[in-house]
Amino acid sequence: MHWKLKARIQSAVALLPNRLSYPLYYQLQRQFGGMRPQRIDPTSRMQVGIDACRRIVAAGGSPCGATFFEVGTGWRLNLPLACWLLGAQKVITVDLNRYLRTELVREDLAYVRSHRDAIAALFEEGLSDYFDRQRFDKLLRLDVSDAKSFCRAIGVEYMAPADAADTKLPSRCVDYHVSCNVLEHIPRAVLLNILIEANRVVRPTGLLVHQVDHSDHFAHNDPSISRVNFLRYTDRQWDSWANNRYAYVNRLREDDYVQLFEQAEQAIHLADSNVDTQVADVLKDGMRLDDRFGNKSVDILSRLDTLFVTSPAKAGARAEA
Ligand SMILES: C[S@@+](CC[C@H](N)C(=O)[O-])C[C@H]1O[C@@H](n2cnc3c(N)ncnc32)[C@H](O)[C@@H]1O
Repeated sequence: MHWKLKARIQSAVALLPNRLSYPLYYQLQRQFGGMRPQRIDPTSRMQVGIDACRRIVAAGGSPCGATFFEVGTGWRLNLPLACWLLGAQKVITVDLNRYLRTELVREDLAYVRSHRDAIAALFEEGLSDYFDRQRFDKLLRLDVSDAKSFCRAIGVEYMAPADAADTKLPSRCVDYHVSCNVLEHIPRAVLLNILIEANRVVRPTGLLVHQVDHSDHFAHNDPSISRVNFLRYTDRQWDSWANNRYAYVNRLREDDYVQLFEQAEQAIHLADSNVDTQVADVLKDGMRLDDRFGNKSVDILSRLDTLFVTSPAKAGARAEA
């Protein structure tokens, strides 16, 4: 579908009152979008959970017995599930919107059952010392009557609606603060507040591990545009297409996130990314860029996925908004 048509549909659905907008958007996603039953595949988010735990282990930590905090649950539970299978004691997962759906959790679980060997291999390859076989066997036998009981069975505390910038959690109760493809959907000022709140709730020995997708999300379904097409537009033009609850992206680049972590006084251990060579070629060929991006290097602009690993600011440190 052409991205402009998709953008117009999203804007129109976002204008409806919540009680109509959310169910309609969900039905559209189920019929035509990324949540079509034939597209159900929990492995990508499980892999992000495995990769996050691998980084934690590489940094000298351990998922075993740890408390995780996930920003932005979304519709499904695959990242928390991966953390639980790797030994987490508890995963608190929060979302501004109560999107979680039992039918999607059931479909994910059915997928895991029918691909049990391949899924087990993902964990064995990634972190065999931590993969909890007993939990995996329990998972394969679980009867999911509703998402709530599933959460209970896998040590997940789902908080929604809840704001990661104001969690109401006690200080220093979290070991690992994680997210997958969420930060790019949050305005910069709110992101800073989320990081400041993380400084409070994450233990000094803990880590933040965040996977960020910097690409133009409309390009995921429209092959006619490049993965950085949105960098052409001024903020005002871009807002006219995508400033709604379903399409919002902040268009921050990897270096902007680095600045943000620094502003929150966090120590950056890793910003792991690769240059997308196709995108680099498009940029070198002279793609027109908005002034906001014109002074950035091709190298930075063509990094479209970054895994950030940081530590919380030392107690007492304060970031200035
Ligand atoms: C694109 S979804 C990603 C969902 C999921 N992590 C995934 O990988 O598919 C982004 C989610 O972040 C949530 N979100 C945005 N701002 C938030 C905030 N301040 N606190 C908690 N969740 C937030 C949104 O409601 C949305 O469900």
